Amino acid sequence: MRTIIEPFRIKMTEALPITTRSEREALLASAFNNVFLLDADHVTIDLLTDSGTGAMSDRQWSALMLGDESYAGSRSWRRFEQTVREITGFKHIFPTHQGRAAERILAATRLQKGNVVPNNGHFDTTRANIEYVGAVATDLPSTEARELQSEKLFKGNMDLGKLEQLIEAEGGNIPFCMLTVTNNTGGGQPVSMENVRSVKDILNKRGVPLIIDACRFAENAFFIKEREQGFADRSLLEIAREMFSLADGATMSAKKDGLANIGGFLACNNDSWADGFRNLLILTEGFPTYGGLAGRDLEAISVGLLEALEQDYQRYRHATVEYVASALISRDIPIVRPAGGHAIFIDAAAFCPHLRASDYPGIGVVNALYLEGGVRAVELGSVMFGKPAPGGGEEIPAPHELVRLAFPRRVYTQSHFDYLIEVLDAIGRQRASIEAYRITEQAPFLRHFTAHYERAG
Ligand code: F0G
Repeated sequence: MRTIIEPFRIKMTEALPITTRSEREALLASAFNNVFLLDADHVTIDLLTDSGTGAMSDRQWSALMLGDESYAGSRSWRRFEQTVREITGFKHIFPTHQGRAAERILAATRLQKGNVVPNNGHFDTTRANIEYVGAVATDLPSTEARELQSEKLFKGNMDLGKLEQLIEAEGGNIPFCMLTVTNNTGGGQPVSMENVRSVKDILNKRGVPLIIDACRFAENAFFIKEREQGFADRSLLEIAREMFSLADGATMSAKKDGLANIGGFLACNNDSWADGFRNLLILTEGFPTYGGLAGRDLEAISVGLLEALEQDYQRYRHATVEYVASALISRDIPIVRPAGGHAIFIDAAAFCPHLRASDYPGIGVVNALYLEGGVRAVELGSVMFGKPAPGGGEEIPAPHELVRLAFPRRVYTQSHFDYLIEVLDAIGRQRASIEAYRITEQAPFLRHFTAHYERAG
C-alpha cells in the first residue's frame, strides 16, 4: 500500500479547542503578541515542542498501574535499569526528572571553569548548564549544516577537522565531548554511525570520553537504517546499541524518544564518574533508584523507550514529517532541507523577503500561523539568538530566521496535518502581508519566553 497509516487506533480522545479568527486576534493581543503567553486551551494545533507532549500507548498506561513506589530498590527501578541497559549497554544508570537534570549533574561533577566541551550542536539547556559552571560550550557542526537548502543526508554530523584542531589546541582541557542525536538546534538533522565512530577515534587519541545527548536516539537510528550503507537489514535496537557502544556515557530526556511526559537519565561506564553522579543525584534529584521520578514514571518510560524503537512507529513518524515537508516544498514555502526527524523548520527570512532581521520575520510567521488557524509554533531567529551590539545600536541578528513546527509523538492524525498544510498554504499566498514586529518589553535572559511585541507597521 502507498499510504503509511498511523500504526495505532484511538481509544481515548481529548477535545481540541476551536476558535474563530476574531477570538484569536483578541487572544493574541492579550498575550502581547507572544504565543508563549497564550493558554494552551486557546491553541488548536500545538507544535511548540515535541518534548513531553506525546501520547502514551495503552501498554504504557497499563504499566503505570504496576508502578512500585518504594523509596529504595523498587521493582520499577529494576525494570527501568534493565531496559536502559538493554538499549545502551552502560554500566551505571541514574534516573533524572528530565534531560537538563542529567546535564546539570554531568556539568557540575565533571567540569571546571575554563574547560571546553565540543558538541555538534548544544541544545540551549546543555549550553546553559556548561556555561553555568564557567566552562565553554563549543559547537562544531559540519559545514553542510549551515547550508539550509543542501540535501545532504547527515547534516547533524560533527566537523571532524575542527574537532581535531580543537583537541590539538585544548588537549587536556576537554573533560568530555558531546554528540547530540539528532541535532535539534541544527534542524533535527541526523548523525551517521560513521561520524560517531570517527569522533570516537579522534577522541581516543587523547583519552577524551564521548557523551551522547540521546534525546532522539531512536529517530537517529531510523535515519541511519534508511540512509547509511550497511544498516538496512539491522533492527533499530541493534543500531542504537552500536551507537551507544561507541560512547562512554549519555544524557537523555525521556520526554522525546522515551515517549513519556516526564523523565530522563544519565548513564556512564566509569566507576568514579558514577560516584560523583550518585552523590549529587541524592542531593538534588532523589535516591538513585528513583531519581526524581515516581515508580510509575519509570514503568511508562521502560515501555516507551522500546516502543520508540519499533520500526512501524518510526516509519510512520518520518512519513508524517515528509508528508508535510513535501506539501510545503510544492507550495514554494522555504524549509530547511531535508526535513528533520521531529520538526520542520521554515526559513522565515526567505519566506518574507520584505522583512529585515530586525523586523523579526520569525515572529511575524509564528503570529500569522496562530491568527490564521490557531497553530502554535516557535521562532528560532533573532529574538531567540540575536545579541546586543557592543556599544549599543542595532542588535546583531541570528545567522538564520527560522520557525520550528515540532511534531508531538502519536498525537495528531493526517487530517490535522492536512489542516496545518491548509493554514500554511493560506499564509503562503499572503506572505507579502506578514507583518514586522517590535519588542516592547524583554527580560535580560531567554527573552523569547516572556517578551512583549507590537506590530511595527
Ligand atoms: N537535549 C536536547 C537535544 C533537547 O532537545 C532537549 C529539550 C534537552 C536536551 C533537554 O531536555 O527538556 O527534558 O530538560 N528539548 C525540548 C525542545 C525542550 O523543545 O526541543 P529536557
